[in-house]
Amino acid sequence: MYHSVFLLLLMGRAVLSQDIEVCSKTVINSCSDCIQSGPYCVWCKQLNFTKPGEQEAARCDTRAVLNDRGCMNEDIISPNNILTTDKNVTLSTSTNPTDDPIQLAPQKISLKLRPGLPKTFQLDFRRVEGYPVDLYYLMDLSYSMEDDLRSIKTLGNQLFEALQGITKEGRIGFGSFVDKTVLPFTNTNPEKLKKPCDEKEENCQPAFGYRHVLSMTADKVKFKEEVQKQAISGNLDSPEGTLDAIMQAAVCGDRIGWRNSSTRLIVVTTDDGFHMAGDGKLAGILEPNDEKCYMENQLYSKSSVLDYPSVGQVATQLEKNNIQPIFAVTKNMEPVYRELSKMIPKSEVGVLSADSNNVVELIKTAYNRLSSKVTVTHDPLPDNVRVTYTPLCPEGGPPGEKGVCDNVGVGQKVSFSVTVTANECLEREMSFRIGPLGMKDKLNVSLSTRCECQCDDPPGQDNPDCNGQGKVNCGMCSCKDSFVGQKCECSVKGMDVSSLKAACQKDNGTECEGRGDCVCGVCQCYAIQGGLTYYGTHCECENESCEKFQNKLCGGNGKCRCKKCECNADYEGSACQCKKSDEQCRTQEGSVCNGRGTCQCNQCKCIEGYQRPYCLDCPACQSPCITKGKCIECLGFQTGPFSKNCSQACKSINSFEMVDMLPLGKPCDVRDVENCRVFFNIKQLVGEDNYTAQILKTRECPELPNIYAIIGGSIAGVALIGLLILLLIKAMIYMNDLKEFRKFENEKKKSKWSNADNPLFKNATTTVANPTFTGE
Ligand SMILES: *[C@@H]1O[C@H](CO)[C@@H](O)[C@H](O)[C@H]1NC(C)=O
Ligand SMILES: *[C@@H]1O[C@H](CO)[C@@H](O)[C@H](O)[C@H]1NC(C)=O
Ligand SMILES: *[C@@H]1O[C@H](CO)[C@@H](O)[C@H](O)[C@H]1NC(C)=O
Ligand SMILES: *[C@@H]1O[C@H](CO)[C@@H](O)[C@H](O)[C@H]1NC(C)=O
Ligand SMILES: *[C@@H]1O[C@H](CO)[C@@H](O)[C@H](O)[C@H]1NC(C)=O
Ligand SMILES: *[C@@H]1O[C@H](CO)[C@@H](O)[C@H](O)[C@H]1NC(C)=O
Ligand SMILES: *[C@@H]1O[C@H](CO)[C@@H](O)[C@H](O)[C@H]1NC(C)=O
Ligand SMILES: *[C@@H]1O[C@H](CO)[C@@H](O)[C@H](O)[C@H]1NC(C)=O
Repeated sequence: MYHSVFLLLLMGRAVLSQDIEVCSKTVINSCSDCIQSGPYCVWCKQLNFTKPGEQEAARCDTRAVLNDRGCMNEDIISPNNILTTDKNVTLSTSTNPTDDPIQLAPQKISLKLRPGLPKTFQLDFRRVEGYPVDLYYLMDLSYSMEDDLRSIKTLGNQLFEALQGITKEGRIGFGSFVDKTVLPFTNTNPEKLKKPCDEKEENCQPAFGYRHVLSMTADKVKFKEEVQKQAISGNLDSPEGTLDAIMQAAVCGDRIGWRNSSTRLIVVTTDDGFHMAGDGKLAGILEPNDEKCYMENQLYSKSSVLDYPSVGQVATQLEKNNIQPIFAVTKNMEPVYRELSKMIPKSEVGVLSADSNNVVELIKTAYNRLSSKVTVTHDPLPDNVRVTYTPLCPEGGPPGEKGVCDNVGVGQKVSFSVTVTANECLEREMSFRIGPLGMKDKLNVSLSTRCECQCDDPPGQDNPDCNGQGKVNCGMCSCKDSFVGQKCECSVKGMDVSSLKAACQKDNGTECEGRGDCVCGVCQCYAIQGGLTYYGTHCECENESCEKFQNKLCGGNGKCRCKKCECNADYEGSACQCKKSDEQCRTQEGSVCNGRGTCQCNQCKCIEGYQRPYCLDCPACQSPCITKGKCIECLGFQTGPFSKNCSQACKSINSFEMVDMLPLGKPCDVRDVENCRVFFNIKQLVGEDNYTAQILKTRECPELPNIYAIIGGSIAGVALIGLLILLLIKAMIYMNDLKEFRKFENEKKKSKWSNADNPLFKNATTTVANPTFTGE
């Protein structure tokens, strides 16, 4: 279900797109370019159709679009297909002995086609009653065909009678073939060459390739005579030189006596296969067949020089000469010749009885089959030309590259609708033929394309519409040398055209940035492109793409001009986002950023360490309790390292006061050089290094101890400690000595060895007891 809906949609689209006329433009510089772009592209040649600066390519579009834009129909150039009938003689109804019968109409047409636009016309065909038939009987005379030869000798009369049943203008010719007279195809023993048949056979003719015996004749008696003279021949292998013979019969038109206006049939009777191109190599024949006639004394003279032709070569020559072969072959060979028949258009295969006595019936059937099927087709064509056929007959085949009508009776008219399409412009006129296969009747089609507009001013005077400096070509001015412009309004005398063009380019870029036309070295920008209005020397400017601030172009505080903001007086910045005044950086006290920063774009930019918004605090800075301690010391108490140059070193303390009591809170608490604790409050003022301080008048200094007591006590202490240490050392030495002596005595008692023995000596031998040793 889903699928079918989808399919329907697709089909609907296809149908629609076929109906809608579209013009997909590529590069259009002229009317010719336009009409070559597609069958629905048309050109408006109206003067003043393009607005100043507009590209002339705007003249090219579909008719509907141009009409909409105000182009009059009479100004629209759209060459149509033209068919001229050069020769259209009506179909003949019967054979007239004096004139060639006409079976196909028309006979000659000329087509001038617009590329891509198909042209359809009708082709009529009628088989004329009693149309002449030429039948060439081509017989295999290898030895196995002996009995067949005997029957054809008796069948001659019947053959003529059968032909008479078809047409009064019937003629028959006769030819025979065996094979190339070289090894390994034929025994080249001189004796055998002369008499290649069985020993017993008396009536045997020498080996030969192809022999044309009798040219087309209406003379029964002569036919019988000539055929009576024929004798069997022979060769070695079973395939025969059949293709050699067919090729010669096809291309030696004069010798065979084919008439120009006749149905040409070759009846090939054989009971064996055939040699093909390449088989000649077996006999050392390398030269390929050249599809030409070589007849000497009724014999194919280049039989042993040229290779066999290929099936394709034979098919081409048969088609070219409008010859329809009928393969009358024995049952065993039928599949082989059916395959061959598939490769040769307009050919038939019939099964021959063992002695060929059914050959007349076979030819009649094959002829009827061949002539009742009308297949129209055309010469090979270049890729860009396409011809299709739709048969208009009761038993017509499908439309396609060939038109086929089957079961067409004599005198019955069939028609084909022929559609010719040239997909591209042709360089020059070409011609090709359309016609039924196997028939001489052809339609000659001369084909050329219409790729030029032919709406240029005649050569000569210049047109005032082009300021008198050029001619109007299909509505456009084509200016003389040294004049350019839509109306040839720019004189470029003394200036080369390239420098005029260069003036329209910015940094060698696209001319007018692709948004305008270069007119006399000045860009004329297109009115609108993508909703934007471009302007500027190179059409590089527009007023819509400036920086935005708070989602407003230029912050709403300025105008956008050529992609840059132009700010109102009080504003600045790339998007006019900054007020020029510093009011937003002012503290309540009125200082800008507390003197520790500058106001930039409505914000304080603080010196390092201080924090926004107003650069008040500096969490990372060292506390002024520590940094300013020394100054407090010198300012409050005139002590410390800066006591000499205090007013200079401590300028950063803008003011201070000595107080009896500090307000509640945690004051700074530092120790001065005298190790006294100094308490003070310090506050940063506006500015980077600007402080005010409150210092507590009183310091907290440590109390001084009694010096003499300390000195006396310490001397006595030292003497006593020294004495005690000496005693202790003495005692320790004594105890140690005693301990060593005792140890020596003990060792002496323990020693049992003689004084000569070495206490460290150990014997080198060791005795190990074997636990399994019983002692026995
Ligand atoms: C084209 O325009 C020019 C000036 O713009 C005018 O003089 C001329 O008559 C116009 N031509 C036509 C055919 O409208
Ligand atoms: C040829 O002539 C017949 C009438 O005689 C006519 O119907 C047919 O359209 C003509 N064909 C062409 C291509 O002019
Ligand atoms: C047959 O046609 C060929 C070329 O088409 C021509 O040269 C020849 O004279 C014609 N023969 C007859 C008998 O009309
Ligand atoms: C068609 O006719 C033209 C002119 O009569 C001739 O030059 C051309 O060779 C013919 N084309 C074919 C394929 O016969
Ligand atoms: C433009 O191209 C010319 C020649 O190619 C070159 O000499 C010139 O320097 C180029 N100018 C710029 C701006 O690139
Ligand atoms: C662009 O802006 C400028 C300045 O406001 C103005 O003069 C100019 O006309 C504007 N151009 C367009 C195309 O809007
Ligand atoms: C003040 O004196 C001290 C020590 O005498 C010295 O280190 C310091 O640089 C002096 N300061 C000024 C500002 O002269
Ligand atoms: C220090 O602050 C006081 C009071 O705010 C001010 O008057 C003085 O100018 C400041 N001094 C410096 C050097 O900034």
